[in-house]
Order: sequence, then C-alpha cells, then structure tokens
Amino acid sequence: KTPFTVSGKSFTAVAINTAAKAGEWIKLKLGAHASLTTKSTPHDLVTEVDKGSETMIRNLIKTHFPHHSILGEEGVAPGAEASAQALKELQDEEYLWIVDPIDGTTNYVHGFPFFSVSIALAHRGEVIVGVVYDPNRDELFVAEKGKGVYVKGKRLDVSKESKLSEALVATGFPADSKFALPVNMKGLQAVAPRARNVRVAGSAALHMAYVAAGRLSGFWEIGLNSWDIAAGALLIQEAGGQVTDTAGQPYSLAVRHVLATNGAIHEELRETLAKAQATGF
Ligand code: IPD
Ligand code: CA
Ligand code: CA
Ligand code: CA
Repeated sequence: KTPFTVSGKSFTAVAINTAAKAGEWIKLKLGAHASLTTKSTPHDLVTEVDKGSETMIRNLIKTHFPHHSILGEEGVAPGAEASAQALKELQDEEYLWIVDPIDGTTNYVHGFPFFSVSIALAHRGEVIVGVVYDPNRDELFVAEKGKGVYVKGKRLDVSKESKLSEALVATGFPADSKFALPVNMKGLQAVAPRARNVRVAGSAALHMAYVAAGRLSGFWEIGLNSWDIAAGALLIQEAGGQVTDTAGQPYSLAVRHVLATNGAIHEELRETLAKAQATGF
C-alpha cells in the first residue's frame, strides 16, 4: 500500500505548501537576480534565486520530515555525471524528495514567464507525489499515485489526439549538453513536419504538466536529469498518459531521455525519433 502520511502528516500537503511558497518567492524576486553565474557551460545558468529557492524548499521539507532524504539540483555538482552519481546514491532511500527549485532558469533570467518549481517524493524509488507550480499563472499541478492529478481542484486528463499530425507537441534543448543539441536537432527536424506543430518553451516540468492537462499531446527531450522529470512523470501517468524513455522503456528515476505523451501518439512519436536516430547520445 502506498504511504501518503507519516504520524498524521501529509506528504502531499507539504509538497503543495512548499512549492507554493518557493514559487511565490521566486516570482517576487523576478528581475532582481543580480548574481548570475554559469555552471557546466556558458549556456548553463544559475542565480542566487535558484539557490535561495532550493534552500527554502530543503528547510521546509526538513522541518516536517527530518529523516527524509533530499536530492536538489543546486545541491549537486554541475554536469550529467555528478547528477547521475547523486541519484544513484539516493534512489533506494525509503523517502527521497527530488527538487528542481526553478525549472526554466534561462527563462527566469530573461523574464520570459514560463518557469516552474518541481517537487516529487519517491518511496523506495517510486514517485508517489508530484507537484509542479507555475507562479506566473498561479497553477499548481498536483498528483498522488493512484489518485489522479488536479489543478485548482479540477481533475486532469490527457488529450485525445491519436495522430501525430493532429498533435501539438513540445521538446527542449538542454543548456548543459553539447551532445544533446545536435541529436535533438535531428529529432526536431523529423517530428516538426509530421506533428501539427512543436513548441520549445523552456521548462521541462511545465511542458510535462501541460501534457497531463491535455494542452500538449506529447513532450520529449534528451539529456535531462531526475529533478526535471520526476514530478511531471507522475502528473502524466495520473492523467492517463504514458511516460517512457525515448527507446520506449518504462519510466524510472534514472531516465534522462524522456518521451511523455497522451499514450495515443506514443508509438508514432517514438518511432519518428528512432528513425531519425534521435533517441539519445
Ligand atoms: C532546464 C529546463 C529546460 C530544458 C533543460 C533543463 P533548468 O532546467 O527544463 O527546459 O531544456 O534541459 O535543464 O536548468 O532551468 O532547471
Ligand atoms: Ca539548471
Ligand atoms: Ca530543470
Ligand atoms: Ca533548475
């Protein structure tokens, strides 16, 4: 049986309140992020607000659940290797919170209002709570394993489009990976003429929330990290969609090349990427 509480405290309530508080705060700080620095590459940005948001989230989680583990983007050394290693060390913990304190930092820096806070809770490697908060639209997407996904009290379902030609889909280009960029250019080139259209709006977590909400029919990206995907993956599963890696293997925390759809277009999108040899690097 999936545990959702410990000593009467709801994991989901803490996830919601924490994402909401962090989201409000980053919105308040928008435009005031003086201290911009780069991480693994000149495209890989971080601000004091990313770090402050993560500290706030860690502190709130620790207040309620002092014995739980936390994996947060800004607590890990830059680069794919360090991220994978950090996940490996923590993925079997009884309770692991997986945190992206700002998903869409590049948008955040430029004032492009498409970014989010993403918080997931995994129980022995399985995501049981996922929250993605968009402070710009005040939309908080929340899912509990087996209980559906909601935004503003309304239950969400994935879209019904069954052909790629009728589907609006999205992708992304990781800032920190020189390998992903050329590969996913091939993916984009293959998908764009077959889909109704493609969006690249710059927050993987929010794109995935939009798949759960039926606003997009699919999303794929290669070279992501666990904190970009974990919450969004549960949102989509709970909305009746499908999440795998780009090769079609079932979602797990270790997935970095993600394919997330309404289910109906999954195979067509997977095959399109496979034919273009754009499933990974
Ligand atoms: C990034 C965003 C972006 C995606 C990158 C991610 P960050 O996360 O999700 O949309 O294309 O791959 O790294 O660094 O802004 O948290
Ligand atoms: Ca980042
Ligand atoms: Ca991210
Ligand atoms: Ca981030």
